[in-house]
Amino acid sequence: VLGLRRGLDLARNAEAAGLRVVAICDADQARLDASGASPDIALYTDFDQLLQHPADAVVLANHFHQHAPFAIAALDAGRDVLSEITACMTGAEAVALVRAVERSDRVYMLAENWQFTAYNQEMRRLALAGEIGKFLYGEAEYVHPMSAATHNDYSPGANHWRNWIPATYYCTHSLGPLMYVTDTWPAAVNGFVVAADPEDPQQQATPRVNDTASVIMVRNRDGSLCKLLQYGLRGEGLYTRVHGNLGMMENLREGDQARLRVKKESFDDPEGRGYERVYTPPLPPAPVNAEGSGHAGADLFVSLAFADAVTTRRPAFFDVHRAVTMSMVGIQAWRSALRDGAPEPVPDLREEAARAEFENDHWSPDPAAAAEGQPPTGVSGNQTRMSVGPRLFQAK
Ligand SMILES: NC(=O)c1ccc[n+]([C@@H]2O[C@H](COP(=O)([O-])OP(=O)(O)OC[C@H]3O[C@@H](n4cnc5c(N)ncnc54)[C@H](O)[C@@H]3O)[C@@H](O)[C@H]2O)c1
Repeated sequence: VLGLRRGLDLARNAEAAGLRVVAICDADQARLDASGASPDIALYTDFDQLLQHPADAVVLANHFHQHAPFAIAALDAGRDVLSEITACMTGAEAVALVRAVERSDRVYMLAENWQFTAYNQEMRRLALAGEIGKFLYGEAEYVHPMSAATHNDYSPGANHWRNWIPATYYCTHSLGPLMYVTDTWPAAVNGFVVAADPEDPQQQATPRVNDTASVIMVRNRDGSLCKLLQYGLRGEGLYTRVHGNLGMMENLREGDQARLRVKKESFDDPEGRGYERVYTPPLPPAPVNAEGSGHAGADLFVSLAFADAVTTRRPAFFDVHRAVTMSMVGIQAWRSALRDGAPEPVPDLREEAARAEFENDHWSPDPAAAAEGQPPTGVSGNQTRMSVGPRLFQAK
C-alpha cells in the first residue's frame, strides 16, 4: 500500500476483504511511525523498494494527480493495481495506462467508492431489473465543503493537489454512481465553473488557486444526458437521481440521505395505480460487517470488488477503460470550461484511432508541468493565491 492517509483505510478494508497486507510505504516517516502496522508488515519510504517486496498487488493512495506513472510501474512489475482516484491527469497518461494494462496480464481497478453506498447499489439492482426502463437523464452531486482549518490540515503546503486541481477534475464521486447505476458511457462534455469567491472567509484562509465548484453536462454514448455537480459549495451532501422512460429514482436530500425514493406514474404501472416508495435500502450481504468500513459502508465493497477481480481475473466494473473515461471527463470539462462551456469529446480509448489522437496530449494544470500552452488552475487564471496567500499566513 502506497500513501498512508487514505491508504490506511484501504489497507484495513483489504484485510477485511480477505487480502493480506504485506508492506506499506510513505515518504513521510512520521506517517509510517503512526501507522500502527503489525511487526510482520514491511515499512518503506521509497516506492521502488515497495515494488521489490514480493506481493501480488499494489494499492495506490498517493497524491491525486500522480497515480498513472505509479500504476504503470506496478503493472510492468507484474502487480495487480487498485488505484485511488483519479486514474490519470492527461490524455497521454490515459493512453499509456490503457496500454500498460493490455501488455500486462494484470488486473487494474479504480478505487472509486461512492457507487457502493446502499442506495446506489439498490438503484443499480432496480435499474438492471428494468424498474425505470430505458435510462434518459441523471444527475449526481458530490458537495463537500470544508472549513479552512480542515482544508489546510488535509492539504499541507501551497502545492498540495487540493490547493490547485481545477474544479472539474474531482468528478468521479458524482459520475461513478451514475455510470454504475445506468451502465452509461460519457461521449462529450460541457464544463462550467463556480469561480473562486474572494468574499468567502474559508477560501480566503487557504492558499487555494482553484475554483469553488463545477457543473459538468455529460452527453452519453446511448443518447442519455447527465449533470454532475462537484465539490466545495455549502450544503454537504451526496445525491443521485436517474430518470428512465418508465420511472425515476433518487436518494433523498433532506434528513437521512440514505433513503431512496422510487416513483412510477400510474400510466406506467401495469396495475394502473402508480406509486411512490420511500425506504432505506440495506447494504447487500457481505462476508464481514460493512457498516463501519468508511463512507457509509461503501469502502468495504471497493476492497471486495478488488479481491473478486484479482481472484477470478474478471475485470472489475471500474476497470481501466471506465477509469480513464471518468478521468477524461474531468480533463475535457476543464478544456470546455476554459472555452466558455463549448463541447469537448470524451475519447473512447478502447479504440486505436482515439488513442492516436490523445497519446501525445500532455495538457495539464499541474504546476510541476507549467509551460507555455498549459492551462491555468482557475477560470480566472493562476492569480488567486497572490491575493489569498498573505491572509492564510496571518490566519495560521
Ligand atoms: N475515495 C475517497 O473517498 C477518498 C477519500 C480521501 C482521499 N482519496 C484519494 O486518496 C488519495 C490520497 O489522498 P489523501 O487525502 O490520503 O492524501 P495526500 O495526497 O495528502 O497523501 C498522500 C500520501 O502519500 C504519500 N506519498 C505521495 N507520493 C509518495 C511517493 N512517491 N512515495 C511515498 N509516499 C508518497 C504522501 O507522503 C502522503 O502521506 C488521493 O488520490 C485522493 O483523491 C479518496
